[in-house]
Amino acid sequence: MRIDVVTIFPDYLAPLGLSLPGKARDKGLLDVAVHDLRDWTTDRHHTVDDTPYGGGAGMVMKPEPWGQALDAVAQGATIVFTTPSGEPFTQQVAQELSGHEHLVFACGRYEGIDQRVVEHAATQGTVREISLGDYVLNGGEVAALAIIEAVVRLLPGFMGNAESLVEESHADGLLEYPVYTKPSSWRGRDVPDVLLSGDHARIAAWRREQAARRTADRRPDLLPPTGAVTGLPDL
Ligand code: ADE
Repeated sequence: MRIDVVTIFPDYLAPLGLSLPGKARDKGLLDVAVHDLRDWTTDRHHTVDDTPYGGGAGMVMKPEPWGQALDAVAQGATIVFTTPSGEPFTQQVAQELSGHEHLVFACGRYEGIDQRVVEHAATQGTVREISLGDYVLNGGEVAALAIIEAVVRLLPGFMGNAESLVEESHADGLLEYPVYTKPSSWRGRDVPDVLLSGDHARIAAWRREQAARRTADRRPDLLPPTGAVTGLPDL
């Protein structure tokens, strides 16, 4: 997979050289480049923003540098605009993006990017406008980092143990069950007996029930409608 990130704060993306994406690069699964949007400005001050038409607070990112940047790096790519007004980022979106050969992340700042850039980008590649969640960050860089990390760990050959992808939160639409490791007793708190039983069927049933219970408590919106036939344990 090839990933290009366009931002006015390239240093913000330094973690892409570390940890998971760094490992993917070392394994040859990933080729990442971070670009400074100001490299595509032509004025002395490297201006990337201007006041909004129609008035209102804040500044809007100008179309010209973005047009030049996307012309240079985004032909035929899937172009992700990180924005609080995008579709919510989910594990399913991560799965979809992990199947694409070339992702370009366009990180907006201020009040956002001139909408014509998004329209133009749709003539160059496939556009996704994606939000990390229902809150406002100062810019799209942190969202791009989070999305890249979630996508890269799904690349075939990246995870040493593919089973951990199957069992983790959201993989099956539920939150993950609680996990424990040694020692079996710690500060007066014991690991649930069933996990020490060696009875794999009972352990699997307990985990399914815990996952369903957790999801019902914390994220009832993830559960199928009542009455649906799901195979989930009754709580
Ligand atoms: N930029 C600012 N806030 C954002 C959010 N919640 N998601 C994606 N990009 C953003």
